[in-house]
Amino acid sequence: MYHFTPDPNQSKPDLYRELAASAAALVGGERDPVANMANVAALIWQFVPRLNWAGFYRVVGGELVLGPFQGAPACIRIPLGQGVCGTAVASGETQLVPDVHAFPGHIACDTASASELVVPVRRGSVVVAVIDLDSPDLARFDAADARGIELLAVAIAAAV
Ligand code: SME
Repeated sequence: MYHFTPDPNQSKPDLYRELAASAAALVGGERDPVANMANVAALIWQFVPRLNWAGFYRVVGGELVLGPFQGAPACIRIPLGQGVCGTAVASGETQLVPDVHAFPGHIACDTASASELVVPVRRGSVVVAVIDLDSPDLARFDAADARGIELLAVAIAAAV
């Protein structure tokens, strides 16, 4: 079993570089996308503090379908363009939401969630999935978190 112990004194860029490198190593030898997404969700859970949900939604048949995750059971299907996740796919842009209650159309899967970060995973120019992080703390995520999870998305895109 892999157990990663991030240094709590690391800067965010260093933490996310280590997370991306660890994730790339973890998925590098495996071609099953479910296994890889499950391991990456577990790795995010270990590395990134103050989360209540971390995982994947996949673009399947023109909608988002729940993928491997850590946290409470969540909404299974999300139409493209709806919620924070559907907006990330429709716009192709990372969504950094300091207060989910102020985001029009936010889908509340876990009432504990206060802020959210959603990053598209692209293969070529096509968005194939999103990485979704929820936190119980308002304004938990900043630009450094967004850049870090975008780095992770690039590192694992071919394997999910
Ligand atoms: N809040 C998300 C739905 C997924 S849960 O956070 C796990 C959204 O609005 O798309």
